Amino acid sequence: MSRRKTTKKAADAATGEFERAELAADFIFSKTSLRPSIALVLGSGLGAFADEFSDAVKIPYAEIPHFPRSTAVGHVGNLVIGNVDSIPVAGMQGRVHLYEGYSVKDVSFPIRVFARMGVKAVILTNAAGGIKHEFTQGRLVVIKDHINLQGANPLSGPNDERFGPRFPDMTVAYDRRFREITVGEGNRLGIGMYEGVYAAVAGPSYETPAEIRYLRAIGADLVGMSTVPEVITARHSGIRVLGISCVTNAAAGILDQPLNHMEVLETAERVKGQFIGVLKAVIPRLVAAIA
Ligand code: HPA
Repeated sequence: MSRRKTTKKAADAATGEFERAELAADFIFSKTSLRPSIALVLGSGLGAFADEFSDAVKIPYAEIPHFPRSTAVGHVGNLVIGNVDSIPVAGMQGRVHLYEGYSVKDVSFPIRVFARMGVKAVILTNAAGGIKHEFTQGRLVVIKDHINLQGANPLSGPNDERFGPRFPDMTVAYDRRFREITVGEGNRLGIGMYEGVYAAVAGPSYETPAEIRYLRAIGADLVGMSTVPEVITARHSGIRVLGISCVTNAAAGILDQPLNHMEVLETAERVKGQFIGVLKAVIPRLVAAIA
């Protein structure tokens, strides 16, 4: 991308993000009469959950004004608005990542759109590498806090007060009540779920063993390449956040074997049923909590 283009893009982002989000929200509302208060970002492999929504409309990202298009394998690229147990929900089948070449503002634009749609809670899901020894392949972990090592913040640049304040608080970015509900529902379903700290890196190369030792030393339990820009953007607008990671692999250097994306996708696929079970159990409870 040329320097001039980058500068123009930055200027657009500063002046029109609110209007662009409104345009996208209006477009989405023209396709459905449902008005979800909760939205889900379905990461690697989990997009299938949105195929189970009833009374659903499926809108390809490419049709939604200003929406980024996903290029990552396992990220279909549809926004599905439908019902889960008669509760209206918005489900993103896949997200975009910094490593695809998108800006951090593009990555979090869908959350801006959710804010304009009146969404009050988001469930962000992802695949992550397990750093803490108990976080073995296939485990589901509730994110309790994060460390942003992506070198970018979606709120950089002029602040639009219509979204939220200049300096949003991140002391409890991951809603306490949502976490409690999720760990409780996990136990009820016989899935031991723990809480952990998620470190976000830019990717796309996986970490080195030395980087994983560093991440462990600074307090990270999980590592991944997404979610944090969405969390910051959601909190900026007062949207309550639940984050759940599927540990798809032991982080680099923990086991004496190389990492590969196939392993990530295979684990996500294997755990999908369990993960969807947790989502179905928590959605009504979160919606009751925000009512
Ligand atoms: N590192 C970073 N991102 C990831 C990993 C990992 O080990 N697994 C799934 N996403």
